Amino acid sequence: MSAAGLSVRDLSVTFAVRPDSGRPWDRSRRLHAVSGASFDLAPGETLGVVGESGSGKSTLARALVGTVPAAGGRALWNGRDLLAMGRAERRAHRREIQMIFQDHLASLDPRMTAGEIIAEPLAVHAPELPRTRIRARVTAMMERVGLLPDHVNRYPHEFSGGQCQRINIARALIIEPRLVICDEPVSALDVSVQAQIINLLRDLQREFGLSLIFIAHDLSVVKHISDRIMVFYLGRVMEYAAARDLVQRPRHPYTRALISAVPIPDPEAEAARRATVLEGDPPSPLAPPSGCVFRTRCPVARSSCADERPLLSEVGHGHIAACPFGEPETPSAES
Ligand SMILES: Nc1ncnc2c1ncn2[C@@H]1O[C@H](COP(=O)(O)OP(=O)(O)OP(=O)(O)O)[C@@H](O)[C@H]1O
Ligand code: SF4
Ligand SMILES: [Mg+2]
Repeated sequence: MSAAGLSVRDLSVTFAVRPDSGRPWDRSRRLHAVSGASFDLAPGETLGVVGESGSGKSTLARALVGTVPAAGGRALWNGRDLLAMGRAERRAHRREIQMIFQDHLASLDPRMTAGEIIAEPLAVHAPELPRTRIRARVTAMMERVGLLPDHVNRYPHEFSGGQCQRINIARALIIEPRLVICDEPVSALDVSVQAQIINLLRDLQREFGLSLIFIAHDLSVVKHISDRIMVFYLGRVMEYAAARDLVQRPRHPYTRALISAVPIPDPEAEAARRATVLEGDPPSPLAPPSGCVFRTRCPVARSSCADERPLLSEVGHGHIAACPFGEPETPSAES
């Protein structure tokens, strides 16, 4: 465990959910959105978090920035537990940890200009800065993320989706954070714009020495930018490994299914690709399957999988998977 960076252990988040029976006396039930997630993120590194909709990715992010309470666990940020901080201490740390969201337009206040939006965190975290310094920093940041400083007085609806996401990135970076959590930052953008935004984030990461948590549905989006990848299913970690190991030697049947779903650019390899189709939707997190939570969709499930929940165990150096039957595969040519 490193003294610097982020070290998360057994993070759990639950929600009280009221049944939609219409009977007000029915008791609410606990939904386990994140169950026992553990990972490390070294300074300057990127952790990719992938999983289907509802697997708990955003909840994990929201617990780290304190917008939902954790039910258990700890998240050491440079040695201090983010989950145990009071409001004032958390506020001071919020400067170091910023978030970028999927819905680029909704996360921008339509009544504020681009310049006001980008400058807003400075007003909160550096109120002593004179206006001329703020203006200079906003201009420099707009240029750095590929926006024209001349557009400083435009409103969000006057920008394209990619430009709105650049405004969000500028706002996140203006107070020089050390960790940026990107929650599906490119999912709502065209494919060509996705690549531009991902490249921008990579460049900014190198320039500012940022740590990134990059959340996505799609493994093909995170595999090129992540040092390590964590695969989530129904709030649980299924596999966690160095990005290359995870993509070339996936050990969990769920990870294999996600990888097989990604088209390969080489036509011959693509023709030989055997996609494992994941049947149906994930079960409700209010009533997860007994034993292995993936068993109802697992193509290689056996009867014993219903009995015991498989523990995460080390299957290779720094490579962890929650399936006792996940034999190593022949390394894939694709990386
Ligand atoms: N405030 C809340 N109250 C009750 N349940 C919630 C709340 N927020 C999230 N959930 C539930 O927690 C689970 C995880 O949700 P979360 O949004 O973290 O998933 P996700 O992986 O980010 O999904 P997506 O890819 O669709 O964004 C889901 O079952 C969701 O319905
Ligand atoms: S424990 Fe069983 S059901 Fe779960 S992933 Fe492994 S083989 Fe599939
Ligand atoms: Mg989400």
